[in-house]
Amino acid sequence: MVKPGVTTQEIDRAVCRFIRSQGAEPSFLNYNGYPASVCISVNDEVIHGIPGKRVLREGDIVSVDVGAYIGGYHGDCAATYACGKISEEAQRLIDVTRQSFFEGIKYAREGGRLSDVSHAIEEYVEGNGFSVVREYVGHGIGRNMHESPEVPNFGIAGHGPKLLRGMTLAVEPMVNAGTAAIRQMPDGWTVKTRDGKYAAHYENTILITSDEPELLTVPAP
Ligand code: MF3
Ligand code: CO
Repeated sequence: MVKPGVTTQEIDRAVCRFIRSQGAEPSFLNYNGYPASVCISVNDEVIHGIPGKRVLREGDIVSVDVGAYIGGYHGDCAATYACGKISEEAQRLIDVTRQSFFEGIKYAREGGRLSDVSHAIEEYVEGNGFSVVREYVGHGIGRNMHESPEVPNFGIAGHGPKLLRGMTLAVEPMVNAGTAAIRQMPDGWTVKTRDGKYAAHYENTILITSDEPELLTVPAP
């Protein structure tokens, strides 16, 4: 649905309907008073954009973050999509953000340390000339959407909890094209880049195993 002319509210309604049609519940709806099922964050919005009457336009980059609850467990998943034709630099931001997740989860296996994942994400993002948001982080996930531990997208390697098989984590790099600084909007939710440059987001819920992690969510390509 990310196409010029579509409103973010239309996407929210479609996602909510689909989740319910599967016998699940949208995790975000009413979470700490959040008023929608999806977070839709456009261009300089980093995360937690509230769907509404905003009409998507050609050239926008659109982060869609979705959580669903079924059988007593939550899943949490996000990706940034191009609306029509976008600039080369915006596409590079989307690609680096997505790839930083995969660089990070190379270290997400039993016996590793959590900050190995964080460190690999930061190295990859900064090596590509972008910056990592500090104020918001990934998280443990399971019977609750947000559980310990926090999963930062930055830090030195070799620290934090030891990873054990059976742990489920939401790993979610939030990447700014310019500086890492953010600004909280007066709606109490929307987070934007301070410098007005673009931001992208990519997230999956993963299961730690003795080998490669299992991806429990898969965003639309
Ligand atoms: N994916 C986001 C997170 O991990 C979604 C939270 S939005 C909220 O925190 F509305 F549910 F808070
Ligand atoms: Co999350």
